[in-house]
Amino acid sequence: MRANRFADKVVIVTGAARGMGRATALAFAREGAKVAVTDVSADEAHSVVREIGQAGGDAVAIQADVSDLTDVSRMVDVVIERYGTVDVLVNNAGVLGKTGPLEEIAPEEWARVIDINLTGVFNCTKAVLPIMKERGGGKIVNVSSSAGRSYSTFGAAHYTASKAGILGLTRHTASEAAPYNINVNAVAPGSMDTEMVRLSATPEHIAQEEANNPLGRLGTPEDEAHLVLFLASEEASYITGATVDINGGDLMI
Ligand SMILES: NC(=O)c1ccc[n+]([C@@H]2O[C@H](COP(=O)([O-])OP(=O)(O)OC[C@H]3O[C@@H](n4cnc5c(N)ncnc54)[C@H](O)[C@@H]3O)[C@@H](O)[C@H]2O)c1
Repeated sequence: MRANRFADKVVIVTGAARGMGRATALAFAREGAKVAVTDVSADEAHSVVREIGQAGGDAVAIQADVSDLTDVSRMVDVVIERYGTVDVLVNNAGVLGKTGPLEEIAPEEWARVIDINLTGVFNCTKAVLPIMKERGGGKIVNVSSSAGRSYSTFGAAHYTASKAGILGLTRHTASEAAPYNINVNAVAPGSMDTEMVRLSATPEHIAQEEANNPLGRLGTPEDEAHLVLFLASEEASYITGATVDINGGDLMI
């Protein structure tokens, strides 16, 4: 049976061209949402939109770099023009960055990872909050990481710092947005089976992660999408400022 929890809701998913963002966009569309599939990669975003369209859903592809506030404002304008409002924002876009010890991270690379992973969340939230306030509510889900709770096993110091920053930003935004009926939460995935991991880690490293995981596997993009949809749903209306772990028991705190 096809659930319809998000019938006619307007959802923006950043970094939705592949990986967990793509799975999240597809899952929202399956449940009736109108989805803005936004990403720096236009071709891949268009192919996700085609996939949604072929399944009978409604989506639009928008090329936007979350680290650029002008780009983000234009992205939100396109969504408003097409769908009239924004009910849900999923701040999913992120990069792992170059791995290696802290002393080998160039200042430019530090800035790039912080700009995309942390300032990107700030930019999109800043652009969408006035719309949600005006319409009397909304849901924001920020994609952090187990790295933000502890430290990154695949990435470096800039990645960990950016993902920890998202947790503070989530709590602060939640405290400010609560009076407007806007819920702001974070998810903290462990090691997930996406290109981010597959393109950066060796097969041996991935096998080790699987062996060390209590559930014996990496998470799937769909595992994470289920959680994001729950936090964006009315069922989660009394949850705000929270960080929800999803890691197969890899990090139990
Ligand atoms: N894969 C993991 O193990 C894991 C674990 C915890 C958290 N995360 C986080 O989950 C999110 C999704 O990761 P994924 O594994 O699906 O990664 P992915 O690399 O497969 O997909 C990331 C997407 O973000 C897009 N993107 C990158 N920079 C962008 C920018 N400046 N503006 C807009 N879009 C941009 C990419 O084009 C890509 O489509 C990221 O925030 C990542 O940090 C991933």
